[in-house]
Amino acid sequence: MCDYLSMKLPPGARFPTICIHAGQTPDPSTGAIITPIFQTSTYVQDALGEHKGYEYARTQNPTRAALEQNIAAIEGGAAAFAFASGMAAIDALTTLLAAGDHVVVTDNTYGGTFRLFDKVLRKYQLEFSYVDTSQPELVERAMRPNTKMLFVETPTNPVMRLTDIAETAAIAHARGALLVVDNTFASPALQQPIALGADLVVHSTTKYLNGHSDSVGGVVVAARQAEIEWLGFIQNSAGAILSPFDSWLVLRGTKTLTVRMAQHNVNGMGLAEYLSLHPKVTRVHYPGLTNHPQHLLARKQMRGFGGMLSFDVGTFETARAVCNRVRLMALAESLGGVETLICHPASMTHASVPPERRQEIGLTDSMVRISAGIEDPQDLIDDLAQALS
Ligand SMILES: Cc1ncc(COP(=O)(O)O)c(C=O)c1O
Repeated sequence: MCDYLSMKLPPGARFPTICIHAGQTPDPSTGAIITPIFQTSTYVQDALGEHKGYEYARTQNPTRAALEQNIAAIEGGAAAFAFASGMAAIDALTTLLAAGDHVVVTDNTYGGTFRLFDKVLRKYQLEFSYVDTSQPELVERAMRPNTKMLFVETPTNPVMRLTDIAETAAIAHARGALLVVDNTFASPALQQPIALGADLVVHSTTKYLNGHSDSVGGVVVAARQAEIEWLGFIQNSAGAILSPFDSWLVLRGTKTLTVRMAQHNVNGMGLAEYLSLHPKVTRVHYPGLTNHPQHLLARKQMRGFGGMLSFDVGTFETARAVCNRVRLMALAESLGGVETLICHPASMTHASVPPERRQEIGLTDSMVRISAGIEDPQDLIDDLAQALS
């Protein structure tokens, strides 16, 4: 049985309860209900070889350990490892690979992930194929004898395409490859990839898990012992750990994940419905709309459609005007916070993706992306209405 299950949680505890209590025990020295920020670099030992399980803070930190147990439980994994950013977490999990290995990647993956794979890891003889993973037959066709990992993002950023996690897991496992799911966009409140067959889940905790736009971090959740051992080793060896303060912030964030995601769902749907009736909007990408090409898959593998949506306004000039005219929404990169953000993916979040690749995945220059926060939905609609007018 995992540590976090033996702590305070009743057996069979449900998702919101797990979010609040997993990994949390009152501080034994004071009774503080909230895990303290253990801002220390080292730990005093009682005698040579006698210590309390903590020797040096890169290797172990109680605040980080509490967060890792919490997120492992929330994702239904066996262990989690927190890193200094989402990219550091993705980089760490690619050390499970060796020179000569091949990875199949969702073509519409986050621009920073593409940059890491294409500009850094290819130097170390790793091979990557970018595939529309929403089509299992294309995934099947991309598999090679040396394919060791499938790296899937679902829904994708910013065109909101979905991949069937269970089907992709079956393809990966039939060839002895690992399935990694970047679950940043959905969050475990809406989608739990390990229950659907994924071996590893990665997050930018910067987004929904923290939820308050005040921390940068990442986490890898693992289901199997082989990866757990290696990830613990690489976390300590390469040392890109999450700080105690950031660990504490994310731990505070996960307590309210369920209620925040419920409102993100409401606001995402409200904005998507409003935009799909707007005469200046040519297309809306939101898995909750019945005309989304994978609406049925979204219903099958997600418990809500989330707060992320994008829409097309026909021309770059109109997209720019909308981004510049909003008053309540903030023009900014990032997503998943309580405040609504708007951005122009082609020139902001996805500027590092070559234009021809952007075209292939349907990321147009006239596309605008919204990360719907948890404000009153009518205030957001009013803001968009004036920006589009
Ligand atoms: C889906 C996804 N994965 C990973 C990352 C990288 O996370 P970070 O910015 O915390 O390094 C991002 C960042 O936007 C993202 O959107």
